[in-house]
Amino acid sequence: MTVRYVFLHPPGQLDAVPAGRLELVVADGALLTSRFQYGRRYLDRAEALDVDPVSLSRAGETELPREPVNGLPLFGAIRDASPDAWGRRVIENRLGRLGPLSEVDYLDHAGSDRSGALDIRTNSDSSPRASNLAAAIDLPYLLEAVERIEAGAQVPARLAHFFDGGPTMGGMRPKAVIEVGGRQFVAKFPSTTDSRFNVPAVEQATLELARGCGLDVPATRLERLDGERAAMLIERFDREPVAGGFARRHMVSALTMLGVSEMESPDQSYAAIADVISTRGAAAYVERDRIELFKRMVFNILVCNDDDHLRNHAFLHDADARGWRLSPLYDVVPSPQLGTDRFLNLGVGPNGRAARLDNALAGAGGFGINRRSAANLIEDLVARTRTWRNTFEACGVSERDCAAVASAFRRAGDIGMREVDRA
Ligand SMILES: Nc1ncnc2c1ncn2[C@@H]1O[C@H](COP(=O)(O)OP(=O)(O)OP(=O)(O)O)[C@@H](O)[C@H]1O
Ligand SMILES: [Mg+2]
Repeated sequence: MTVRYVFLHPPGQLDAVPAGRLELVVADGALLTSRFQYGRRYLDRAEALDVDPVSLSRAGETELPREPVNGLPLFGAIRDASPDAWGRRVIENRLGRLGPLSEVDYLDHAGSDRSGALDIRTNSDSSPRASNLAAAIDLPYLLEAVERIEAGAQVPARLAHFFDGGPTMGGMRPKAVIEVGGRQFVAKFPSTTDSRFNVPAVEQATLELARGCGLDVPATRLERLDGERAAMLIERFDREPVAGGFARRHMVSALTMLGVSEMESPDQSYAAIADVISTRGAAAYVERDRIELFKRMVFNILVCNDDDHLRNHAFLHDADARGWRLSPLYDVVPSPQLGTDRFLNLGVGPNGRAARLDNALAGAGGFGINRRSAANLIEDLVARTRTWRNTFEACGVSERDCAAVASAFRRAGDIGMREVDRA
């Protein structure tokens, strides 16, 4: 059994406090199960938060360490603070070891500036690992390092320091965290596996299209690198600049809020996330966040973003509202396809995952939205996404790339708009 200590950055504070003791049972590198117990002093703190809102409510604390719900090997919130495919490759490269490594290694090496407000340390009095964020001027070097990592080659010493001090966020695509003008951004890079279009440019334009639809989108910007290539910057919503540094916002994925494993994700639905907003969301924002979620679902239908899995939706703890809010939007990329029948990753309405407006309309009740209001919301989103090319051109997406993604944008009339008009 391996023991680690979970630290949490209380709202508005620069430093983390020890929250409790984590036991990890590992066999051959695989995590079998884990147990957690809060520290007494942590439970007495006025500013303490649940480390994991689903598996570890402080109110349910007992004399014995608790295990994650649903037989999960790791507490969802702690899993969310650990790297996914890309971050794992970065860690393997840094350590000069072939993966897969032990889950504990990934948990240990994600960096103290990792996603959300948690940190994992070896002792209850350990200091955070030194964190050194790269700057915008370093982007070309970071890209060079990304290429090495993708090729499975060691990052040379002259590039290593750009990556070494930074955290590893989640997700599959190459990324790094940079600091620009006293704000933190996730920089998303092109990948050697991108063959169809300039993904960072298209992702940035899609997020700007979403902003134009009234969705809650972090600040984004495109940084041109060499030739056609670019990195997309998106401001971190789990960081807040405060005097002397950054405060952190506790964040968990929708996967964690639903208490399910990744394998169970495709059986889940937007309505299930809406239910979680109702049961666990900050009371004053339940209605607003359910409407926002409904609009995101319709937007994903209209741009055919079918990578909308449960890790691509998140919740942020809001200290003022004393509860959880839907996070701003991220990771939205159109997926051009040949067929007309498209499916999202999550259930939309009574017709399951079918990416159709009539399906969304029929499912609106699950978001607490009546048929007429839902029809109005859909109509507005259809009108605002119809002119997507203008936004893409204004964002500098090339004509070639617009043509490459055009099949993701279908005519509303072909995907059930008649039913919406009737409503
Ligand atoms: N603006 C942001 N602020 C804070 N955290 C973010 C932000 N954008 C992304 N993240 C976190 O980083 C993770 C990875 O980002 P993102 O989903 O954009 O990457 P990806 O590699 O394209 O993902 P996927 O594997 O789903 O394709 C997210 O799951 C989320 O936890
Ligand atoms: Mg993602």
